[in-house]
Amino acid sequence: MKLNRRKFIKRALITVASVEAFFLLKGSVNKINTSSGTAELFNAGKATAFENNKLYPFLTGQFFLKRFEDGGFLAMSIKCTHLGCIVNTNSKTGGFNCPCHASQFDKYGEVVSAPATRPLDYFPITIEKGELLIDTKKPIKRSSFDKSQLTYA
Ligand code: FES
Repeated sequence: MKLNRRKFIKRALITVASVEAFFLLKGSVNKINTSSGTAELFNAGKATAFENNKLYPFLTGQFFLKRFEDGGFLAMSIKCTHLGCIVNTNSKTGGFNCPCHASQFDKYGEVVSAPATRPLDYFPITIEKGELLIDTKKPIKRSSFDKSQLTYA
């Protein structure tokens, strides 16, 4: 069966919305007691539910959760570091495109194309009882990607 461009885009959007809805139903925001006080953390679900080398959008949490080839997790902000527009995923590159002024980011959130000058912010991830807890109140600015930003189950 041959898909035209409109049908393909429609199906792609439905797929992304379905994945988001699935993880939305699984995920929730929990108040967690930490050593530094009570924090509101977004519960993305069991680490084992995420496949390597895949990207999972959590638009209500305002982050994309990427699990890399080696199993490391990175929760990247959906906000462009230029002027804060919401970036789109780029299925061809595995990265992100900003619809506002055409900045492009790679799969690590690093800038590929200006006007953005720094990578997408990322959020701290902790793992408790096998569940990924993302602290969406603490975006971390960075000048480049390095492996210390990844969290492993
Ligand atoms: S807000 Fe993204 S490129 Fe300007």
